[in-house]
Amino acid sequence: MTEPLWEETYSDLDAKSFGDASQEIVELIPVLPVGAKVLDLGCGDGRNAIPLARAGFNVTAIDISKAGIQKLNTLSSLEGLSIQASVGNMTTFVFYEEYDLIISHGCLHFIQGNDWERLIKKFKTHTTLNGLNVITVFTNDIPTPPDLENLCIGLFNEGELYDRYSEWDIVLKKSYTFKDEHAGGIQHVHAVNKLVARNTPN
Ligand SMILES: C[S@@+](CC[C@H](N)C(=O)[O-])C[C@H]1O[C@@H](n2cnc3c(N)ncnc32)[C@H](O)[C@@H]1O
Repeated sequence: MTEPLWEETYSDLDAKSFGDASQEIVELIPVLPVGAKVLDLGCGDGRNAIPLARAGFNVTAIDISKAGIQKLNTLSSLEGLSIQASVGNMTTFVFYEEYDLIISHGCLHFIQGNDWERLIKKFKTHTTLNGLNVITVFTNDIPTPPDLENLCIGLFNEGELYDRYSEWDIVLKKSYTFKDEHAGGIQHVHAVNKLVARNTPN
């Protein structure tokens, strides 16, 4: 089986695999509590973990890609940042503590539905009171391009992510599509659900 498309840019220190930090993370940085604990599951090469660590937060970052974690460790040590980054499968991640912010950007659709269902429950029980979850997933509103078909094994139904947080304060709920192009000129569109939710029971 060919390796996932992001492995190539994870092996290149100068490449930006998925662009700059997510807009919602940039906006949250000034409002997170001092010393906040952050968990980034499926962190990739750290486009969100690195700016969060730069801002002084205590970041734990997990990804199944060795190349992604290696690049993140190299980039963070070049800046003298301290990020607890390790290679791991998010489906078996053990939650020992609570986090002020849990991020999973563009990853949960790569695991089975029963796994993300269980993981989201863990996110919620391991988020501090008034803490935040920021999640972006692909939905099945648009078919997956051929090169991602074998990887996207847990696509969400439209709105399903938001339903899981119905008893939290929904700060942002955004359904949208974006055009993408992979190596070999494979052009396609992704359907996305994005959620920012706060653990403030409504
Ligand atoms: C589209 S990338 C997004 C990376 C990062 N969150 C970002 O926004 O730049 C998806 C990431 O999910 C990771 N991933 C896929 N399945 C995983 C799993 N079971 N456990 C941990 N990471 C996983 C991939 O290695 C990849 O880095």
